Amino acid sequence: MPRYKIAWMPGDGIGKDVMDSARLVLDAMKFDAEYVPCDIGWEFWCKEGNALPDRTVKVLEGTTCALFGAITSKPQDDAKKELAPELKDKKLVYFSPIVKLRQLFNLHTNMRPCKSYPGNPLNYRGTQLANPSGTELMIDQVVFRENTEGMYGGVEFYPLPESVYEALCANPKMKPWKQKGLENVALSTRIVSKQGCTNICKQAFDFAAKVGRKRVTLVEKPNVLRETGGLMTRIFREVAKNYPAIRADEANIDAICMWMFKNPQDYDVIVAENMFGDIVSDLCAGLVGGLGFAPSANIGDKYAVFEPTHGSAPKYAGQYKVNPMAMLLTARMMFDWLGETDRSQRLESAIARVIKEGKVRTYDMGGKSSTMDVAKEVAKYAG
Ligand code: IPM
Ligand code: MG
Repeated sequence: MPRYKIAWMPGDGIGKDVMDSARLVLDAMKFDAEYVPCDIGWEFWCKEGNALPDRTVKVLEGTTCALFGAITSKPQDDAKKELAPELKDKKLVYFSPIVKLRQLFNLHTNMRPCKSYPGNPLNYRGTQLANPSGTELMIDQVVFRENTEGMYGGVEFYPLPESVYEALCANPKMKPWKQKGLENVALSTRIVSKQGCTNICKQAFDFAAKVGRKRVTLVEKPNVLRETGGLMTRIFREVAKNYPAIRADEANIDAICMWMFKNPQDYDVIVAENMFGDIVSDLCAGLVGGLGFAPSANIGDKYAVFEPTHGSAPKYAGQYKVNPMAMLLTARMMFDWLGETDRSQRLESAIARVIKEGKVRTYDMGGKSSTMDVAKEVAKYAG
């Protein structure tokens, strides 16, 4: 019997392209796994009205962990238009299946490393004043994004039920919306918990302590989001006290979007609430070559789903054109989680070597190679 049972979820768009590349490399590395294909994604929303069918959740429960490609997520109205005709009047609500998976399996921690590999023509070079020689800047950051709460918790209303509206009106700040009338108001909530904030801060500091990182930065906005941002900030400061050797500092989400651009090397480990983590992780990815180089791991206490940070890029679907590096780096994060340290190192070295040699590159890196050409080249060194 194979050692691991891996749920295989290509999803849609370029999800299949990049998952095929991962499979080629995993097989070349003789990874001892059985892969269980699972239905998830846009196709199942359109056909069944559920992008994450119950049968998939059942299958996942019996696996070691999951690999995930990408999924198309559209706003509510657009999603409804694409439903099969017989499902159209069933009041079905589209909710991103990856967000749902994170919540269902309590995958509380989203770890998103952004590291530059030497020789990547897309590496950030800073501004001319800050870096007159124009050499590539070596970035090595890890974002810890709270993955189940906050702005993406899914507690939203439109129209608002009376009871919710009335409860909100207890707050004097509701005055402007009271005047606008119920039917003109939509509500998305940002609910955070002490447990959620404590956990994500601890994960970030524990990681920093374990791998010898020197600095953890909280990304928040407590000057405006006084309650949720305030709670997260207080907890961050409290948790930080247990790690006196690590520098703990704070940045506002808006400010970091500027500072990250100016002084990216000032940042090391970053911790943030769900939406701010989503934003800042794309920003960090931009510094290391874009989403084509950004892996991620959704980690819970006993289960994990590994996915590249990028989306499904439907216009490239099936063309085997996109960069598989984010997916391959994601497979590497899976190796780490499984304790497959040797495979993890081999895979990362192979990726670094292919990037450095620069012979096999996808279009985003200025090359003409296909997704699978890159995978084959990585497999050649990793296998
Ligand atoms: C990500 C993506 C998802 C998110 C979307 C597709 C729901 O942007 O993983 O960063 O916001 O979490
Ligand atoms: Mg995102």
